[in-house]
Amino acid sequence: MTELKANFVDVSNGERRENEEWPALVVPRAEIDREIERLADIDRPAHGRRASKVVHPMARVGQGLAPGIDVTINVLKPGEETAPIRHNSSQVTMCIAGSGKARIGDRDIAFGRYDLWTTPGLATYRYRNDGPDLQVFFSYSNAPLLELLEVHYVEDEPSVQIPDAAAPGNDAAGKRARDSADDIPIGSDGARLRGYEFLIDPDVVPNPPLLFPWQEVESRLSRVAELGKDYTGRRLYLLYNPATLGRNGTTHSFFATIAKYPPNTVDQPHRHASAAINYYFAGNGRSTVAGRKFVWEAGDLMLSAPGWAVHNHASRDQGFYALTVQDHPMHIAADSLIWQETLKAPIVNLGSQYGAQTNRAELAAAR
Ligand SMILES: [Fe+2]
Repeated sequence: MTELKANFVDVSNGERRENEEWPALVVPRAEIDREIERLADIDRPAHGRRASKVVHPMARVGQGLAPGIDVTINVLKPGEETAPIRHNSSQVTMCIAGSGKARIGDRDIAFGRYDLWTTPGLATYRYRNDGPDLQVFFSYSNAPLLELLEVHYVEDEPSVQIPDAAAPGNDAAGKRARDSADDIPIGSDGARLRGYEFLIDPDVVPNPPLLFPWQEVESRLSRVAELGKDYTGRRLYLLYNPATLGRNGTTHSFFATIAKYPPNTVDQPHRHASAAINYYFAGNGRSTVAGRKFVWEAGDLMLSAPGWAVHNHASRDQGFYALTVQDHPMHIAADSLIWQETLKAPIVNLGSQYGAQTNRAELAAAR
């Protein structure tokens, strides 16, 4: 066997790798519809998962529509069911057409069009189409990042059900080795020395699957759509998962937001380290991303903001509804979410530094 040896790369000259920004890209509804039809026509695949990843032309093997986010189109014909699977990537999923049932961990979720739900990491799940129509759902996953790290764990038909550590009762056993481990203040900046037990038994934040029923979400959206032309923020709600605490995610990796824009409404140009993928499910609009112009309409999917690309979006005559998925909470956890809310604003590291402000309070006071 050849002995492996590390290399030394002299970086004294300060040269560094330039980021390779993936251009924004619209995936038109017609192309998505054709792929859905194709998936419905193939023989039922092993495990029952008719699925197709939407891959950016600059993606390397394993990557998706953004370097850290993949989008998969999933199709089940009436009466079909998938085999159980689990993996340590987590998912945000939205039903695009039809209806059916998901079983995620020990939770049953009945879903219809535009319902959105989460699949936590390592939760066993399966899907069933018990409705009369073709079932189509988009799932967004952080698998590309785990594949880059060479730690994407995937298990087909898992036979061992790992007990849910977050279930009530499991925690109540009381004594943890951690309770008697060392936890010693050191220096004068708040640093501590902690025993090994802290590493192998961190505090548990329960993260059950969450369902955001579309009917309920939609009934709340007029409030953001009516913020008025002068509002400087975005007209959307975050679909918040309390398990993500101050990182404001839907999963620990991604946030999902639902925007409702009235006609002819223009946002300010801005940029952020998180990459954004938009699915426009009603209306029409246009975007400028890294100086290039795009138009889009209902049913189009878009890499709408490659990380750190300056961009802004605007509605056209119909207004629009959009689902946006960004790898924002992952960046906050990594202390890397740089954000510039207007091109004149300072670049701040959200989560460690105070962020931008909108004029929401002034608008509320003026009413
Ligand atoms: Fe943005």
